[in-house]
Amino acid sequence: MKLTMLYALLFVPLALPSKPKGSNLKLAAKIVEKNEPKIPVWLAGQELYKTERVALLLRGASLDEETKCNLLDLNTLKKPNALLLGEKIDGGKLQGNSFLEDICRKKRASMYIHASSTQKKPRNLAFGRLFNEKILDHFEFKITRSSRNESNNHTSVRKFPSYGSPPCFVFIGQQWQKDKNLSEFKNLLIDCFGVRLGKTVSMDSIEHAIVCVAHNQTEVSLIHYVIEMGKSLQTVKLHLSFPDCTMNLRECKLADVNILRKALGVVREVGPEAQKRAKRRLEKKQKEAEKRRKRLVEEKRKQWLAQGIHATPEMLQQYAEEQNAAAVKVKAL
Ligand SMILES: *[C@@H]1O[C@H](CO)[C@@H](O)[C@H](O)[C@H]1NC(C)=O
Ligand SMILES: *[C@@H]1O[C@H](CO)[C@@H](O)[C@H](O)[C@H]1NC(C)=O
Ligand SMILES: *[C@@H]1O[C@H](CO)[C@@H](O)[C@H](O)[C@H]1NC(C)=O
Ligand SMILES: *[C@@H]1O[C@H](CO)[C@@H](O)[C@H](O)[C@H]1NC(C)=O
Repeated sequence: MKLTMLYALLFVPLALPSKPKGSNLKLAAKIVEKNEPKIPVWLAGQELYKTERVALLLRGASLDEETKCNLLDLNTLKKPNALLLGEKIDGGKLQGNSFLEDICRKKRASMYIHASSTQKKPRNLAFGRLFNEKILDHFEFKITRSSRNESNNHTSVRKFPSYGSPPCFVFIGQQWQKDKNLSEFKNLLIDCFGVRLGKTVSMDSIEHAIVCVAHNQTEVSLIHYVIEMGKSLQTVKLHLSFPDCTMNLRECKLADVNILRKALGVVREVGPEAQKRAKRRLEKKQKEAEKRRKRLVEEKRKQWLAQGIHATPEMLQQYAEEQNAAAVKVKAL
């Protein structure tokens, strides 16, 4: 089944009530289960692993079972581009950046996830990225809910996707756009999995989804579902998997804007010269689009002719407009 994704809707925030009724998990499941075109769906293409970051997963010297389980779940999710360090890392070593920078360089990792649990910071999960072997940004969360807790852990047998299959991402909640801290964390998540957007995506290759819900400026849930494809989108089934947790942002260090742009390969352009260049690029793109549309219309005309249909100018015009609309959706990216 091939689907052309609803690009224009990708970044449309879904307003969530500030206090979701029922469990957050159920809510997210419901929203995804409905599977209406309103839902912003972020699908990863097959080229995913070409650019995926290698993550180093670190266990703190002091670590509770539940947080450890969540770390191991992230490890499973991130494989084969994850490396779980055997050595336990004392929290003190994370003070200052040099330890993390050294060990990431040695292990050829460009991001890290550190789990620990101390009296000062119970159930702590820290995420960070590196650029040019220096720490780019750093986020620390407290796990406030997870289905790895003692009373929940063994109750359900959960499904896992096949090894290394690329996930699709669903971001729910306006804070992913509006809040600076969370929008950068969202960027980290996407970057972490090297998500690239394809023009079309084969739904058959999407086995699992990571639903990221922002409840407010600090509280987020990461819920992993395994997707069971039905005959149509309406019969898709979702099975809860691990990780499945809610976390509260404790603190973060955001990247310097200019370094972040560099790290992400975004070139900043200002001034009249840059504007002229941008205008020329746009004009070039428009010309190319026009050419492409003409070519498509001509192909279609021939195809119709081969079927014995003499296309009227109206038919061709309508076809051209459809192609245009599709192209605009792609542009909205
Ligand atoms: C949850 O279950 C797994 C597998 O049975 C076990 O390894 C882990 O220690 C359990 N976690 C907790 C927090 O009890
Ligand atoms: C485990 O999670 C369940 C459901 O979220 C919750 O009802 C329960 O209180 C939690 N147990 C512990 C020990 O945190
Ligand atoms: C976000 O929600 C959580 C749980 O409801 C709450 O503890 C926290 O204080 C809230 N944070 C903000 C910034 O509103
Ligand atoms: C972002 O995080 C920083 C540092 O933890 C905090 O001081 C700031 O208030 C947060 N900003 C927002 C908008 O929540």
